[in-house]
Formats: sequence, C-alpha cells, structure tokens
Amino acid sequence: MRFRFNHVSFSKYLTFAVAAGVALFVAFGNSSMLSADSAKLLADRHKAAGIECNSCHKETPPKEAVKTEVCTGCHGDYDALAKRSEKVEPNPHESHEGKIECGMCHHSHRVSDNYCSRCHAFGFKVP
Ligand code: HEC
Ligand code: HEC
Ligand code: HEC
Ligand code: HEC
Repeated sequence: MRFRFNHVSFSKYLTFAVAAGVALFVAFGNSSMLSADSAKLLADRHKAAGIECNSCHKETPPKEAVKTEVCTGCHGDYDALAKRSEKVEPNPHESHEGKIECGMCHHSHRVSDNYCSRCHAFGFKVP
C-alpha cells in the first residue's frame, strides 16, 4: 500500500516535472528571446575576446578537457579570482571547498554548473 502510494505520487511528480519542462521550453526555448550574451557558452565568449581553441587546448585537434592550470595561467590563482568576485556573497572562489577544479562549476561547451548547490541554495550565476 505504502509503495503504491509513493509510486502514484512519484508519477504525479513526473507528470508535473515534464509539464513544467515543456512550459519552460515554450517560454525560454526560443533563443531569440534571450540576450545574445546569456545564450553564449564560455568557449564562445572566449572566442569573442580573441581566445581561440588552441589557447585552451594544447593538443591539435582539441579532444580533451582543459586542465585548471591552463585557466589559472590566464586568470590568476584562486587568490586573484577571489578578489574579482569579492562582492559576491558568499565568495564562490573562496570557500571551505578550497582550490577545486574550475570545471566543478565552469564548463566551456555546455552550460556551467553551480557545484555549491549540491548542498546550499546560493543564487550564483556561473558564467
Ligand atoms: C589565453 C587566456 C585564457 C585562457 C587559457 C582562459 N581564459 Fe577565460 N577569459 C580570458 C579572457 C581574455 C576573457 C574575457 C575577459 C575577462 O573576463 O577576463 C575570459 C573570460 C572568462 C570568464 C568570464 C566570462 C563572462 O562572460 O563573464 C570566465 C568565467 C572564464 N574566462 C573562465 C575560464 C576557464 C574556466 C578557463 C579554463 C577552462 C579559461 N577561462 C581559460 C582568457 C583566458
Ligand atoms: C564554486 C563554483 C566556481 C568555481 C569552482 C570557480 N568559479 Fe569562477 N565564477 C563562479 C561564479 C559564481 C562567478 C560569477 C561571480 C559574479 O557573479 O561576479 C565566477 C566568475 C568567474 C570569472 C569572471 C570574473 C569577473 O570578474 O567577471 C572568472 C574569470 C572565473 N570565474 C574564473 C574561474 C577559474 C579560472 C576557476 C578555477 C581556478 C574558477 N573560476 C572556479 C563560480 C566558480
Ligand atoms: C576557455 C577554454 C576553452 C576554449 C577557448 C575551447 N575549449 Fe574545448 N574544452 C574546454 C574544456 C574545459 C573542456 C571540457 C568540457 C567542458 O568544459 O565543456 C573542453 C572540451 C573540448 C572537447 C572534448 C569534448 C568535450 O566536450 O568534452 C573538444 C572536442 C573541444 N573542447 C573542442 C574545442 C574547439 C574546437 C574549440 C574552439 C572552437 C574549443 N574547444 C575552445 C575548454 C575550452
Ligand atoms: C558536500 C556538501 C557541501 C558543498 C558541496 C559545499 N558546502 Fe558549504 N557547507 C557545507 C556544510 C555541511 C556547512 C556547515 C553547515 C553549517 O554550519 O550551517 C557549510 C557551510 C558553508 C558556509 C558557512 C560557513 C561559515 O563560515 O559559517 C559557507 C559560506 C559555505 N558553506 C559556502 C560554500 C560554497 C561557496 C560552496 C561551493 C564552492 C560550498 N559551500 C559547497 C556543505 C557543503
């Protein structure tokens, strides 16, 4: 009985989630409604700043994920990054998680993640 109840409420949840997903897609799926910037992935933004594939990828053609040291080579270490984001509360570049890989949050060819949201509800907007 208990299992059946859970099952029913789960499928209701699923129906809701799918409906919400469709509604979101209808509302925001049309990229012409987004500003050009928010539609761009990090690799595109780098390209716009004159940073080509091989400034990040050391192998030709690119095929591997880019290491954190390549990112910090241009952007500085966590201390420098923490200064740039010091107005953000809490600071995403200075936390009890220490010097984690940039790729825990920033992705270059897909939408970035907020790693901290696995445990917290900070409203970070990760570029
Ligand atoms: C060759 C130098 C270079 C490398 C390597 C590089 N970046 Fe950048 N990055 C830039 C420049 C230039 C900009 C645009 C100006 C700025 O915001 O600093 C930029 C912008 C950014 C931004 C801000 C984007 C925005 O729209 O606000 C983020 C986040 C970022 N880089 C993360 C990374 C990560 C993560 C890596 C490693 C995977 C990386 N960068 C590698 C030079 C570099
Ligand atoms: C916990 C998630 C997280 C990690 C890990 C992380 N960042 Fe960020 N990063 C953010 C968020 C959130 C912002 C946006 C801050 C803001 O709103 O100004 C940001 C912004 C940036 C910016 C733009 C700063 C500016 O002045 O506009 C750069 C460059 C950047 N990150 C580089 C890096 C690099 C390089 C690494 C790895 C060494 C890294 N980040 C690791 C979350 C993260
Ligand atoms: C800002 C640094 C940066 C730039 C510029 C960049 N990449 Fe990447 N690339 C990455 C990172 C980091 C990954 C790991 C996956 C991710 O974060 O999306 C990756 C992964 C890849 C992969 C492996 C498949 C995958 O998605 O994991 C390929 C192929 C690739 N990049 C091709 C390119 C090409 C082609 C360009 C130029 C048009 C380019 N990259 C520009 C950072 C970069
Ligand atoms: C695996 C779970 C987990 C992750 C991931 C995580 N945290 Fe936490 N965080 C905790 C726990 C547990 C506490 C302590 C809870 C408390 O005392 O309320 C904490 C506390 C904090 C606090 C309050 C600490 C203080 O000084 O009182 C801040 C700020 C914080 N985390 C920021 C971050 C940021 C930023 C990230 C991402 C870089 C992050 N956390 C990722 C679990 C996590």
